[in-house]
Amino acid sequence: MIESLLQRWNSTFGDSSPQVVVKAPGRVNIIGEHTDYNDGWVMPGAMSRCLYILISRNEGKGHHWIASDLDESFESPEDVIEYGEYSWARYIQGTISLYAQGIGSLRILIGGDLPVGAGISSSSALVCGMLYALQQLTGRTESKIDLALLGQRVEREIIGVQGGIMDQFAIMMSEPHHVMLLDCRTREHHNISADLPGCKWILINTKVKHALIDSDYNQRSAQCAYSVSMIQKLFPEVIALRDVTMDMLKDCNLTDVLHRRSAFVIEENNRVHEMIKALHEHNATIAGKLLKASHEGLRNKYEVSCDELDHLADFANKYQGVCGARMMGGGFGGCVICLLNEEVLDAFSKACTASYHDQFGFAPEVILFELGGGVSKVSL
Ligand code: GLA
Repeated sequence: MIESLLQRWNSTFGDSSPQVVVKAPGRVNIIGEHTDYNDGWVMPGAMSRCLYILISRNEGKGHHWIASDLDESFESPEDVIEYGEYSWARYIQGTISLYAQGIGSLRILIGGDLPVGAGISSSSALVCGMLYALQQLTGRTESKIDLALLGQRVEREIIGVQGGIMDQFAIMMSEPHHVMLLDCRTREHHNISADLPGCKWILINTKVKHALIDSDYNQRSAQCAYSVSMIQKLFPEVIALRDVTMDMLKDCNLTDVLHRRSAFVIEENNRVHEMIKALHEHNATIAGKLLKASHEGLRNKYEVSCDELDHLADFANKYQGVCGARMMGGGFGGCVICLLNEEVLDAFSKACTASYHDQFGFAPEVILFELGGGVSKVSL
């Protein structure tokens, strides 16, 4: 992969190699969905699939950026960054404007094997990878936590998605073979093993991404904030949904929608803690039940699923040898994460692909992955 990107670099720019090459992974999440912006807990990890960013200064000769997987590129003079219709270029431009204004012209080539719109956070991989690449290029020394928080600011302030810190923390700081248990209020995090004997975690990509995802996402976050303001009338000590219990919720007179949103977040936070216990006790059956319950909540209470995700999750959750499955990430498309017995992997992959194809007329992609490390510099 990196070899072909280096060749492309060489044939486009005539340089033998870029000044810096950075590798930024996609993120998976075992459980704890839509909890991060509610000060809750999440359990993400970095996956082995990744995005490479090759970058060099182009001293006064203007910007030239290329997204090799999409076969898109644009060039502009140093002081005007016109990224046109390309959203990837907007993420890069946003990152430069928050972190490295005045850095001058850059040559950038990005490419890898991270599918876009699959709910594995290719956009945060781009932002975090760019931050790290710019840090290497300029010799600055912020901690990875500070870079992760800056990454969140790019998405909130420039892109306009009111996201939490899960993706950036996982992409910046994950350790190989582990997932991260992250407390999104205190930002405390530690590594835990997600290995369950005889079992495997896989993803199945629906290959759909429904429109309005950003506005639906922001609407969920606004509904949570509004619920908190209602709950505070009875419980002024509450700062975020993380501080609320199901008992407290009973007395708060929330509308049906706000009650369901809040209940989901409270229950999902509880599921993260139950998952820690299940993983610790190597109990794949309980882990699977938690995944199923998470999907039900995301579908019925938080309402961020879609027909394609439901089809895959329902198919998996009825399949003998699958412990459990749920939609992963922001929702409205993207991937299902599934825990299954290793011996049914091949048969299940074929069966779920066929069933999905029958229903929707195209095949999903079964993605096998290992848990890898966070953003890193690639030495050439
Ligand atoms: C997106 C956001 C994350 C998180 C998830 C849902 O991936 O970027 O911050 O909120 O959705 O858990």
